[in-house]
Amino acid sequence: GIPRSVKIVEVGPRDGLQNEKNTVPTGVKVELIRRLVSSGLPVVEATSFVSPKWVPQLADARDVMEAVRDLEGARLPVLTPNLKGFEAAIAAGAKEVAIFASASEAFSKSNINCSIEESLVRYRAVARAAKDLSIPVRGYVSCVVGCPVEGAIPPSKVAYVAKELHDMGCFEISLGDTIGVGTPGTVVPMLEAVMAVVPVEKLAVHFHDTYGQSLPNILISLQMGISTVDCSVAGLGGCPYAKGASGNVATEDVVYMLSGLGVETNVDLRKLMLAGDFINKHLGRPSGSKTAIALNRI
Ligand code: HMG
Ligand code: MG
Repeated sequence: GIPRSVKIVEVGPRDGLQNEKNTVPTGVKVELIRRLVSSGLPVVEATSFVSPKWVPQLADARDVMEAVRDLEGARLPVLTPNLKGFEAAIAAGAKEVAIFASASEAFSKSNINCSIEESLVRYRAVARAAKDLSIPVRGYVSCVVGCPVEGAIPPSKVAYVAKELHDMGCFEISLGDTIGVGTPGTVVPMLEAVMAVVPVEKLAVHFHDTYGQSLPNILISLQMGISTVDCSVAGLGGCPYAKGASGNVATEDVVYMLSGLGVETNVDLRKLMLAGDFINKHLGRPSGSKTAIALNRI
């Protein structure tokens, strides 16, 4: 069966805006986060406390966080690659953080400039510091089915990194198909391997829609018992260190599918679409959500 309710983790302001050619003004980011929160989304990933040399698009992380820190109704986690980022995030008012490892050695190097093992050492330090402050930590695993350099990634490698993140205290592990190459044919064995070492209640799925496989991949994940799904309003997104990767699955499309399945999400689709219109107008682009395009025609 399918879970009766699903928690949607909106990653548009972070995963979406980190990849925009033209940096989005701080005020627009803040307004987008406000609108997303008011649509009923329980979690809105707000920004990243990463090196501004690596991701200049999010160099205003402190200003964004300070502007949204007191918003009520949603949790607002931020990405922290190391202790420096963690400390800056806490100083700006973050109450939840996320660390991001990879199942691909090559992607780890290009994304965070260190090996998988080195990243785990760094993340253990972040997890310890967070525990001292009672700050919940989410863990990401990237390249869970494929890597732009290494090609297919073995499920055992994903399970290893997911278990390490779980063992260091992450309350949730999000499994990222960074380049969107997975199909149910590769996603199912990957999930089986991870579910053998991390309880399914602690898992989330994070699909990029490069090959249009996100919805079938989400459906199969739900059927396997996963009840947390990452997505991005209007399908914004992509990782600057994963060439050719397109945006995350659009939140509107996921909410539409879940509502058709009778699954509770607590999200107001109309308000969510208005948040999407707001950022699309700013970016001067049509929506990446088929649902938003269809409903805007009627
Ligand atoms: P590095 O160059 O190896 O770091 O980068 P370093 O420790 O040698 O420091 C170099 C400089 O960066 C120093 O400044 C540091 O102070 C500064 P300098 O002395 O040269 O002026 N620095 C920082 N500044 C601000 N905040 C920090 C920070 N840390 C160091 N936290 C590092 C290593 C990890 C910092 C870098 O590679 C980085 O920031 N990478 C982030 C890349 C990124 O954000 N990628 C996108 C997110 S992951 C993703 O999208 C995938 C996901 O969506 C899941 C999926 O789809 O699979 C999550
Ligand atoms: Mg991503």
